[in-house]
Amino acid sequence: MSTTPHTTLDQPLLRPVDLGDLRLPNRVVMAPLTRARAANPGLVPTELHAAYYAQRASAGLIVTEATWVGEQAIGFVDVPGIYHEEQVAGWRRVTDAVHALGGRIVLQLWHTGAASHPDHLGGRRPAGPSAVNPHLKSFTRGGFQETVTPREMSTAEIAATVADYRAAAANARRAGFDGVEVAAHGSYLIAQFLHPRLNRRTDGYGGDRAGRRRLLLEIVDAVAEPWDGRRVGVRLAPYLALGDRFPVDEGTLADHEALAVELNEHPVAYLHLRGPDGAPGFEEIARYRRLFHGPLIANNGFDRESANAAIEAGTSDAVSFATHFIANPDLVTRFAQGRELAAGDPGTYYGGGAVGYIDYPASTDSSRSSAVTAASTSSGSSARPTAK
Ligand SMILES: Cc1cc2nc3c(=O)[nH]c(=O)nc-3n(C[C@H](O)[C@H](O)[C@H](O)COP(=O)(O)O)c2cc1C
Repeated sequence: MSTTPHTTLDQPLLRPVDLGDLRLPNRVVMAPLTRARAANPGLVPTELHAAYYAQRASAGLIVTEATWVGEQAIGFVDVPGIYHEEQVAGWRRVTDAVHALGGRIVLQLWHTGAASHPDHLGGRRPAGPSAVNPHLKSFTRGGFQETVTPREMSTAEIAATVADYRAAAANARRAGFDGVEVAAHGSYLIAQFLHPRLNRRTDGYGGDRAGRRRLLLEIVDAVAEPWDGRRVGVRLAPYLALGDRFPVDEGTLADHEALAVELNEHPVAYLHLRGPDGAPGFEEIARYRRLFHGPLIANNGFDRESANAAIEAGTSDAVSFATHFIANPDLVTRFAQGRELAAGDPGTYYGGGAVGYIDYPASTDSSRSSAVTAASTSSGSSARPTAK
């Protein structure tokens, strides 16, 4: 691995790359960030969203916040959707603003399944792969609430869910997106099907490893249909343990590795891999590099130097940054110029309005960004969720 410091415009991060049919002028990807600013009854993206994403348009690629594929998918407060016309029009404002500035933007698709709560679903019980409580907390209007034992999805409901994903992808295309990313990580519907403690089914959507990954593969194929070429990314987080139902063990790691190999047979533009927590997991990412033969975006805990090193070593094609993009809308310029990075305020990560959302300035020089760092250290509110 090279340890050469990259201080000029020759950084590997600043070189163009193709991820399937997505052509990126640089390899600095904005990772998906739920910001809970769609505070309106229709869960419609607003002018605030357009301003926020436009400020970050110099990213090689923007992956949006996770977005509901349908009403049954809802499991968090003030998150936008892509399942009705007003939402499509709202997102059109966003994609127009990003494209006008020369950017590219894909929509991350989300369904919380059993991790939702009746309060999000008009009192109805959430549905999941099996009637097993995921033992999580759901963030509702009334604060955090314990999840309940979900209903087991029927095969008809599974087919309807795949259809929701397909329709959401078609809506995303009409809204002007450059592609979509399937969120298959964490504790949400697709991950619930992948994990044997949540998925106790004995039909074709469970039973063994191939059955458990079937929902994801059907969704990948369905959301690819509306596009010409390769414009579908898949996000996996094999090293993310959550509660007692989503452990990371030999079995789950083997499941994810087999899945990465299987994805080679599907129309995937890129794999977006969230690596282990702590320092960037070069070894773990290199493992997926060998299993999956398409483009790879690495994520979790990277800074400019480690990201350049990962790309230079050929470990990944691009690197995504989440928290750095919150307070550094011009992250690409800051990397290019070797400028200091500002720190965001976790108290405004989720919910609220413009404050902590569209008021982080672009840098002018390093003395200015120090001032931003000093100004953005107010403490977070304990009533809000912490980063997921
Ligand atoms: C406020 C916040 C919201 C997030 N929302 C999402 C999301 O909607 N979808 C997703 O896949 N990951 C989400 N993540 C995870 C990030 O994309 C990323 O994996 C994580 O922050 C590690 O990357 P980083 O070290 O560059 O911050 C979120 C993280 C944070 C801090």
